[in-house]
Amino acid sequence: MDTAATTQEQCVLVTGGAGFIGSHTVVELLKDGYSVVIVDDLSNASEKVLDRIDTIVGEEAAKNLSFYRADVCDKEALAYIFDNNTITSVIHFAGYKAVGESVAKPIEYYTNNLASTLTLVDVMREHGCKSIIFSSSATVYGDPDVLPLTEASPKKNATNPYGWTKWMIEQILTDLHSSDPEWNVVLLRYFNPIGAHPSGLMGEDPKGIPNNLVPYVAQVAVGKRDAIHVYGNDYDTHDGTGVRDYIHVCDLASGHAAALKWMDGRSGVEIFNLGTGKGSSVLDVITSFSAACGKELPYVMEPRRAGDVTANYANCIKAKELMGWEAQFNLDDMCRDSWNWQSNNPNGYEG
Ligand code: UFG
Repeated sequence: MDTAATTQEQCVLVTGGAGFIGSHTVVELLKDGYSVVIVDDLSNASEKVLDRIDTIVGEEAAKNLSFYRADVCDKEALAYIFDNNTITSVIHFAGYKAVGESVAKPIEYYTNNLASTLTLVDVMREHGCKSIIFSSSATVYGDPDVLPLTEASPKKNATNPYGWTKWMIEQILTDLHSSDPEWNVVLLRYFNPIGAHPSGLMGEDPKGIPNNLVPYVAQVAVGKRDAIHVYGNDYDTHDGTGVRDYIHVCDLASGHAAALKWMDGRSGVEIFNLGTGKGSSVLDVITSFSAACGKELPYVMEPRRAGDVTANYANCIKAKELMGWEAQFNLDDMCRDSWNWQSNNPNGYEG
């Protein structure tokens, strides 16, 4: 018997839905016909993204979106949301995500990321909702012995508290399924999400100095910063700089939509890598972004950054075989869309 519901019958709670990956995923879900409820405390996001989402999806689909400003650690607020909406599944993005900051503030990171997840699944259980997609990360693979990484590659020690929270939440959700096999858990391990919505209306809007490569490069391109700092040129890679599997945020969003469809009517714990399968170096990114913005971007070589691995990239065959999903955009597309966003919104959503 086919137990799958149509998307129109389903209401997805998206925690952290005003953030970078969350907002792009919300667009994808609304376009697919789902009702969407965002819960976000706006600690690292702007409420303005909600208008941008409405503009992109259009008036009809926008009627299916609601927003609650609340902290996912706030059990009463979550219970209120579940009492007032028939949530059929949850995509859990909310969490602190700055690697360096997590080293300086382990108590805050462990408290926030773990407590919010535990509160969320507790409220889900109380409301009979047992379907969750979790935003995990390739960081759980640590420093890999063999590339590309498959879902069967070993989990290794994380190198920072942020990474450990991803590692631990994967374990918590796996244990939850062991305790009650009705739970339906999908762990999506993202590689390096970059890019922006092709409309130029949504993109990454980091507060302060960007920690990640592409937001930094974009700010150099728009003239907000002088030069890119390249962390290490003595790695064992094709040009000596670190290699990562960059994935367009819209591909990542469609990966969530594919996972939601695939998991409908099932139970279990399933892990999927979401990447492109292609590794690009820091210098590859600078070259591609320079072409996108039409000028040579200045960079300076710096020592390696603590905790960085030489290279990682994904094997994404499992996602293709099981969910029929694969990335569509290449590095040039990602840089073009990042530049489009950054040049149209030099100061992000506040600009
Ligand atoms: N890099 C620079 N200069 C910068 C920033 C980064 O040269 O200003 C280099 C890094 O050394 C690395 C590459 O660019 O080689 C990518 O660095 P990012 O900081 O953009 O991304 P990371 O791979 O370090 O981390 C990302 C996410 C994490 C996630 C991890 C999973 O930010 O959340 O991928 O592998 F955990």
